[in-house]
Amino acid sequence: MRDLSRRYGPLMLIRVCERVAVVVSSAEAAREIFKGHDVTFEQRPSSPGIDELYRHGEGIIFAPYGDQWRQLRRIVMTELLSARRVEAFRRIREDEAARLVSSLASAPPGQVVNVGERLDEFIADAGVRAIFSDRLPDRTVFLKMVRQIDDIEALFDLHDLFPSSRLLRMIPWGRKAERHRQELLRLMDDILRSHEERRAAGGGGDEEQDMIDVLLRIQKEDDMRVSLTQGVIRAVLTDLFGAAVDTSSTTLQWAMAELMANPRVLEKAQSETRHFLAGHARVQEVELNKLSYMKAVIKETLRMHPPGSLAPRVCLGDCKIQGYDVPQGTIILTNVYAISRDPKYWENPDMFMPERFQVDKAFDYKGLDFEYTPFGTSRRICPGINFATANIEIALASLLYHFDWKLPLGVNPENLDMTEVFGITAKRKAELLLHPIPHIPHVDE
Ligand code: HEM
Repeated sequence: MRDLSRRYGPLMLIRVCERVAVVVSSAEAAREIFKGHDVTFEQRPSSPGIDELYRHGEGIIFAPYGDQWRQLRRIVMTELLSARRVEAFRRIREDEAARLVSSLASAPPGQVVNVGERLDEFIADAGVRAIFSDRLPDRTVFLKMVRQIDDIEALFDLHDLFPSSRLLRMIPWGRKAERHRQELLRLMDDILRSHEERRAAGGGGDEEQDMIDVLLRIQKEDDMRVSLTQGVIRAVLTDLFGAAVDTSSTTLQWAMAELMANPRVLEKAQSETRHFLAGHARVQEVELNKLSYMKAVIKETLRMHPPGSLAPRVCLGDCKIQGYDVPQGTIILTNVYAISRDPKYWENPDMFMPERFQVDKAFDYKGLDFEYTPFGTSRRICPGINFATANIEIALASLLYHFDWKLPLGVNPENLDMTEVFGITAKRKAELLLHPIPHIPHVDE
């Protein structure tokens, strides 16, 4: 779509069967949409597949713009993902980062390791422990189920392309999706039941509350502004976990891949980490604020590889964008990937240069500069920025501090495969196989 927009311009209409979308590929057009139209673009498009998934209660990602979404968003921002709550999960992150280091260090010398898989595990475990705590029956099955939501084929079928077709509506919705939904509901109910039992037995002080405990507490407080049914709680938890896992893990994998493809940057990031963490047996979060170059590496990774690169919205009323009439119901896809690689805004856009975030204008993640919006923008901007960056930073610092890295035999920085796969999250196509060479021993304290 980036290539098409170069031919057809920053606003491009695409039509797939009955669905019509406008693809936005310039910062100016994105600014006009999100700054100039109040709430007109604060809803996400729906589809029969998505409606089916949330039949028992809306979560937050696809909830229509309105009071229920506003109240859930308030709970997510002030209770589940607030700076205080994210800080309360610090111990979990430090433990999981130490486990990641131990598992890499125990790889037989000279053997390549699937680093992508280890990073997937780190992110999933840090997420599981914060959201559900350790009491997760069927953990492996649950992770697999949530991952499948990211699979386009699991959620979309012909109904989505012909939503008005009565004939298609008569055909029962995809068996695969239905089975998936039932299984996920069963697993979530088991998780909620075990939390209820623990609450009833009087367990779980404030400091050891996971996100489910917080939601169950709010449910009991009977806040009339929000209806926290069992279905809504299930949907919110599935949304949070689904939104957290692949995005963060993909970012870490691209960061490592870009470092391997750019040895100069790897060396600079590594010497910064080793300088500031010198003498520590394991990476501790309080030290991470000193690592400004590593933070720039993460920003540059999110510029070149924004995991949620189309952030879909739908237009709630007829309006004009850049002089074009856009009717109500049109899907709006902001091509964040195209904008953050556009030479109009970025010098040498296809080069991995974290320095640009140190010398140039200090871009942040708040979504106010439309040249750089990896976490989205406006009222529906990602609420998980603090949680995501905390996990990504501690994992990347641990990899840089404790290991030297080598590419497998026959692969060099110039021919490292950087192809992306098609999907809801822009993941790497090739596995990330590397040699970790322990450098600074990790000591369990
Ligand atoms: C590198 C990691 C992440 C990236 C790049 C990312 C990116 C995004 C993007 C682009 C959106 C759409 C925003 C828009 O429409 O303008 C989004 C929404 C969302 N994200 Fe994230 N995200 C990440 C991690 C997380 C984490 C860790 C969580 C939760 C623990 C999370 C929870 C959500 C939720 C709930 C929404 C929907 C918000 C709403 O519709 O109100 N994300 N994210």
